[in-house]
Amino acid sequence: MSWIREGELNFFQKLTASVLKEGPIPKHVAFIMDGNRRFAQKNNLEREEGHMQGFNKLAETLRWCKHLNIQEVTVYAFSIENFKRTKDEVEGLMELARQKFVRLLEEMDKLESHGVCIRVLGDLNMLPLDLQQLIAESVVRTRNHNKCFLNVCFAYTSRHEIANAIREMAWGVEKGLIRPSDVSEALLSECLYTNNSPNPDLLIRTSGEVRLSDFLLWQTSHSCVVFQSVLWPEYSFWNFCQAIIEYQLNHSSIQRARELHQERQALAQLEAERACVAQQMQHHGNGKPADTQRQQEALQQYIVCREERVQDFLEALKHKRDSFFKDLCSQVS
Ligand code: FPP
Ligand code: MG
Repeated sequence: MSWIREGELNFFQKLTASVLKEGPIPKHVAFIMDGNRRFAQKNNLEREEGHMQGFNKLAETLRWCKHLNIQEVTVYAFSIENFKRTKDEVEGLMELARQKFVRLLEEMDKLESHGVCIRVLGDLNMLPLDLQQLIAESVVRTRNHNKCFLNVCFAYTSRHEIANAIREMAWGVEKGLIRPSDVSEALLSECLYTNNSPNPDLLIRTSGEVRLSDFLLWQTSHSCVVFQSVLWPEYSFWNFCQAIIEYQLNHSSIQRARELHQERQALAQLEAERACVAQQMQHHGNGKPADTQRQQEALQQYIVCREERVQDFLEALKHKRDSFFKDLCSQVS
């Protein structure tokens, strides 16, 4: 089964989609695709078949997203916790991923014509080398596509991602690229695997479980979270519409909460910068108070220098990450 499903919606689906599109549509939707094994058990199928049908449902969901003008989708395909499943199941999921990334590389024309950029987010070092290479090739070959984005979280948990982002900032400090005082919420966000994406507007978990299971914890503090009881392989267009309606009903309060958070974050940043500048001036002025104009100038200068430092650090980080993928690709060719 292909990643890209062509084809129109049926008449009723089209009609519903056009009504929904009169309201706010999420730009970025995240899915915890849960319930594959229960689906298999319910239908007397092998567990692998449940995961395979889970993948097919993902391809179908991406088609609905396209028709609803949703440009970005993030899915939880394999959690670091999933490594604790039986050897058989883990190997089965790795094999499924292998097959699907091989298929993806064969479908490059389709991905190009639809402008699909594939990103894989997670600690790829935990995966078999051949799978790392397939993933790296898929990521590198689609990285300039910019019409829609599919982020596949693989060997991922949110806590691992946050700990990794903190390590990256510590690396920046150690290399002298940034100062400890440059560490902020905003900088941490830039160091996450998701740094290229806006936060999800809507997070959907299927199968009736009402937990986040360590998925996008940092990114979803102002997202609409919808739990649905349907098992992932049975997820329907109508289930998806229901989740979008839930988002639309909560849209204005979510927007307000986001704006408030942004204002507070900007204010906190400015206060931190003022405190740094005051400390510097006290140090250089032997404790004498500086006039307001000098304080203002020093603050402006501090902000410019900090922004330059942070930009250089982020460039270095990007280079490090790009090299990781390029090295994997060059091992193949
Ligand atoms: C959760 O259901 C699902 C998974 C752990 C795997 C999800 C993977 C896919 C849908 C395939 C995606 C593959 C690629 C390459 C993108 P579960 O196994 O926890 O089922 P249960 O909740 O019924 O036990
Ligand atoms: Mg599960």
